[in-house]
Amino acid sequence: MIKHTHSLLLPLALLVCTPQAHAQRLPAYLDDTQPLETRVEDALSRMTFAEKIAVIHAQGKFTSPGVKRLGIPDFWCDDGPHGVRADVLYDSWTQAGNTNDSVVAFPALTCLAATFNPHMAAIYGHALGEEALYRGKHMMLGPGVNIYRTPLGGRNFEYMGEDPYLASRIAVPYIQQLQALGVSACVKHFVLNDNEADRHTTNVIVSDRALHEIYLPAFKAAVCEAHTWGLMGAYNLYRGYHNCHNPYLLTDLLKGQWHYDGVVVSDWGGAHNTEQAAKYGLDMEFGTHTDGLSVDAPNAYDKYYLANPYRDLIVSGKMTDKELNDKVRRVLRLFFRTSMNRHRGFGSLCSEAHYATAEQIAEEGIVLLKNEDHILPLRPSHVKRLLIVGENALRLMTPSGGSSKLKAQREIYPLQAMRRRLGSEMQIDFARGYLGVMEKRGETEAFLEGKDEKRPAAQLVSEAVDKARKADVVVIFGGLNKNKHQDTEGSDRESYSLPYGQDSLVNELVKVNPNVVFVNISGNSSAMPWAKKVKAIIQGWYLGSQAGEALTRVIAGDVNPSGKLPYTWYAQLNDYPAHALHAYPGVKTQDGKQVNEEYKEGIYVGYRWADAHKVKPLFAFGHGLSYTTFRLSKLQADKTALTAADSITFSLDVTNTGKQAGAEVVQLYIHDVKSSVDRPYKELKSFRKVYLQPRETRRISLTIGRDALSYYDPTIQDWKAEPGKFEALIGTASDEISSRVAFTLK
Ligand code: BGC
Repeated sequence: MIKHTHSLLLPLALLVCTPQAHAQRLPAYLDDTQPLETRVEDALSRMTFAEKIAVIHAQGKFTSPGVKRLGIPDFWCDDGPHGVRADVLYDSWTQAGNTNDSVVAFPALTCLAATFNPHMAAIYGHALGEEALYRGKHMMLGPGVNIYRTPLGGRNFEYMGEDPYLASRIAVPYIQQLQALGVSACVKHFVLNDNEADRHTTNVIVSDRALHEIYLPAFKAAVCEAHTWGLMGAYNLYRGYHNCHNPYLLTDLLKGQWHYDGVVVSDWGGAHNTEQAAKYGLDMEFGTHTDGLSVDAPNAYDKYYLANPYRDLIVSGKMTDKELNDKVRRVLRLFFRTSMNRHRGFGSLCSEAHYATAEQIAEEGIVLLKNEDHILPLRPSHVKRLLIVGENALRLMTPSGGSSKLKAQREIYPLQAMRRRLGSEMQIDFARGYLGVMEKRGETEAFLEGKDEKRPAAQLVSEAVDKARKADVVVIFGGLNKNKHQDTEGSDRESYSLPYGQDSLVNELVKVNPNVVFVNISGNSSAMPWAKKVKAIIQGWYLGSQAGEALTRVIAGDVNPSGKLPYTWYAQLNDYPAHALHAYPGVKTQDGKQVNEEYKEGIYVGYRWADAHKVKPLFAFGHGLSYTTFRLSKLQADKTALTAADSITFSLDVTNTGKQAGAEVVQLYIHDVKSSVDRPYKELKSFRKVYLQPRETRRISLTIGRDALSYYDPTIQDWKAEPGKFEALIGTASDEISSRVAFTLK
């Protein structure tokens, strides 16, 4: 071993001084002027069998080995997707207690999707990449692009909503900008991991059309457009195979049809079988518990499915090294793109620029759902006494929620920001109103103030009601939090209602004060039986470090809201197709080992269901108000008919008809007038966020191609566009279509 190191280092040291020799004698794998595949083949040819086995599985919680002898560094990944997670101990989930791993917490991905602005995704990816570089990470475990199928889904907050087109448009720039810095993305969780209940044992049964039209497009865009270098297999099963080693999904589709050249990483503990992992597409195994008892054991990593058991299969001749070499090639590609990438910079951490990015995204993603009598923004001329109610005005949301939890250098909570911004203009009082579960998760407390609250619920309500009587306006910060059975990994919600008696709190408050505003902090919709009784509702997401600041700026009118709902917000749980059809959760098999979950709604997810079954949601997909008003007019198409190879462009005027600068999201949906198969009434195929000064008009255009007219035909296992009549529907929400134009596909 020592000999080897010598023989490599000595010539290298000499080479530094002699450029000609450098060009001649630098091994190809170290020479980044060589094509990637040349470097890969060269490194592969130099690796021993043991080294090959080593690089395809973990050596710690978030690290896998490089090749020491060849000077290939260890590989480090980390969660993902809202910031760079604090370091855990090398071989345990306990936080390492480092003093240099605090970060900026960026808004949750639901908020990013709600910006309807790919540029926000690009600056998100860039800022996150810089933080990852500084923290020495080679791969970020994210973004997540699973689909919002049920509002009970515990991890919806980490995903990009219900629409495959929207999720694709947001995921691509995030990945591209992250990877432009030499930090790999790891798009997750491939695929059909759309709820948390029984996530390790659920076998999803879904039609081919729904799989390809709803659940796969964002992954496909990540692979084929953004060229992600990493992708994480999901915990659940499809066609009876776990998705971390799934012959159809990984071998045939991803690596076959989509020509994916990156790595498939297992979700942590998502590998279950050596032979399947070897054959069916897994390249890097992480998080497996290996002592058989689900606790960690010394040298557990040697027992990983892709460690000694795989080695033994090959040594005994039961398998050749064909699959192994393919895996190692992929891992080497990843190394050359990241850890061996000499163009990687050093990044930066907690810079003001990152805070500004986090805040800008938060401000663009906040959705104004309702604003009766223009109660918002709050004006000091009208509001002298402001009462703030609700635990979420105090609660820190970044330290919990599962793997996306963060050790944020700062998290400005709403009460703090409201006092700071409005305290000199209004008299501000606070009443907690309800008490959530005081669960301490991770190493950080959820409260900087108010952590010792012990008063009974009735007292909290009566205090809020008494104070509300004397206030001009009441702003409630409620919603969910990151506790178990709320917005968190590992469990789904148990109810569609808001927890901790919030419904009765709101009902009591509206009795004594007509001016109630509800700010809903969550990554999910909830029942709001009192929605008509409050004046305004804001969807406030989980906004990260600048949460309170961004919300306050919208409430105070410093920012004009422009976010749009990335999912359909139904009034009741049973309005969601998965619940209407009793297709969630799954049904346990007789042996109790597996749960079959049939996606009976097929392609009719979200607004597609609302259209098909005339269910009026409480708030529609794409809905979001502004403090100004907009008009869309003069819609025109550049042609009346297109051929398969063509594209068609729609142009229209967008006018800000109000008195304030603001932004509107123009949404283009396609309606197939006559089809031989069942199709949703309309599907989002383009959108554009337009910023306008008061009275300004801008003409914008949106172009679509044949792919926007296609559906997945399972009989040919491909996309197909049927000639005939189509309509482009243009509007500002899925239920606000203001004009349409017809055209034909020849
Ligand atoms: C989660 C992943 C995460 C991984 C590592 C798993 O439990 O499902 O999303 O990246 O843990 O923390």
